[in-house]
Amino acid sequence: MKLTIIGTGYVGLVTGTCFAEVGHHVICVDNNAEKVAMLKAGGIPIYEPGLEELVQKNVAEGRLSFTASTAEGVEKSDIIFIAVPTPPQADGSVDLSFIEGVAREIAGAMTSYKIIVDKSTVPVKTGEKVAETIKRYCKAKVEFDVVSNPEFLREGFAVQDLMKPDRVVVGERSQRPVPAMKQVYEPFKAPIIVTDINSAELIKHAANSFLALKISYINAVSIICEASGANVQEVANGMGMDARIGRQFLDASLGFGGSCFPKDLSAFIKISDQLGYNFALLKEVQRINSFQMERFVKKISDTLWVLKDKKIGVLGLAFKQNTDDVRTSPAIDLCQRLQKEGAILRVHDPKAMEKARALLQGVTYVADMNEVAQGCDALVIATEWPVFKKLDLDRARKDLTHPIIFDGRNLFDPAEMERLGFIYKSIGR
Ligand SMILES: NC(=O)c1ccc[n+]([C@@H]2O[C@H](COP(=O)([O-])OP(=O)(O)OC[C@H]3O[C@@H](n4cnc5c(N)ncnc54)[C@H](O)[C@@H]3O)[C@@H](O)[C@H]2O)c1
Repeated sequence: MKLTIIGTGYVGLVTGTCFAEVGHHVICVDNNAEKVAMLKAGGIPIYEPGLEELVQKNVAEGRLSFTASTAEGVEKSDIIFIAVPTPPQADGSVDLSFIEGVAREIAGAMTSYKIIVDKSTVPVKTGEKVAETIKRYCKAKVEFDVVSNPEFLREGFAVQDLMKPDRVVVGERSQRPVPAMKQVYEPFKAPIIVTDINSAELIKHAANSFLALKISYINAVSIICEASGANVQEVANGMGMDARIGRQFLDASLGFGGSCFPKDLSAFIKISDQLGYNFALLKEVQRINSFQMERFVKKISDTLWVLKDKKIGVLGLAFKQNTDDVRTSPAIDLCQRLQKEGAILRVHDPKAMEKARALLQGVTYVADMNEVAQGCDALVIATEWPVFKKLDLDRARKDLTHPIIFDGRNLFDPAEMERLGFIYKSIGR
């Protein structure tokens, strides 16, 4: 099939590449000319495991191409996916100007029947607005359908999630585009849920908010564990073996972040308010998440006392493992809070240092994780990169002026760390 994806970011690039990998012909459009030039020259603007090889292969085999022209993408394909940003506004609601802008561009370029598929995460009822906008701005008298097809990929595992989705959600306003949407996804052999467009849009916000709720739940439990001498990992393991609960998203930490959970949670709270329901449960999820960060910073200052001029090493800047994405990263938030208290930071991340530089200045970026602790009063672990478990602990103990580690991701065993001579403070243990 001939498919166009508008917005070649974390979602658009991986989706487009995986569509090409199963045999579709895909044009990825982006209005960032630099990004398009980089992709055309064989570069990849994001780090996502397995992506680079797949992009190169599909470009070489002629199924994947890049352009900065929306008109070209609209003209050459029958199905147009929208994967542009839907960032939060100051009041928590979603900035839908990117979606509206693209809808207008598509409308202006349409000369034959098109299926317009919204893949971006949007508040319920956005599809209706997109359809109205296209109708208003379409000069040619052509028919079209608007479909919602929310994306559930996890950064760091995006290729695997795209190639083997748990489910595909297709939200429609008429039956007409459904066979084509099923054909797009047929090669992925995943269950396809066809539903009305409002339900499809709600599925995404409800799912992400529920996952955030699960994290805040275990983080709240971690407070009780610390107060009672229990171990949150033991509690999570015991809870998680119940098939009704599941072990995933039960890792206590310094809190969740990233470009999705915080914004989708705020958006869902906001849209609920607008629809007349005070979703207080989700407001508490947000409160617990902020409190978890405050508790972690307090743990550091309770131990080191005055943070001014203290040297602190920080491992991890990405919002989670396996990605270079630093948008709304708890690790960056933590660094900025420590800096505000006057701490001097040495930081390292396996993939995110380049992107972090734009958000975090006045720190020393250290290329080797084993050199971060040099001359520091304490070491902090802020991202759950598996490679941090291979840290040379003997060297870290010698390099630190005091052998103190604050682990915001529970990567090490407390008893073992104590045996190695560390003052080791983690979450809920
Ligand atoms: N990142 C994730 O893990 C994830 C997962 C599921 C859903 N989503 C949702 O998918 C959407 C996109 O997220 P993302 O992380 O891929 O964002 P991103 O910022 O990585 O990518 C968006 C891309 O769209 C481009 N763009 C903006 N306006 C454009 C326009 N008018 N024409 C063409 N290109 C344009 C930008 O240049 C950018 O490259 C958001 O709604 C997000 O909530 C993201």
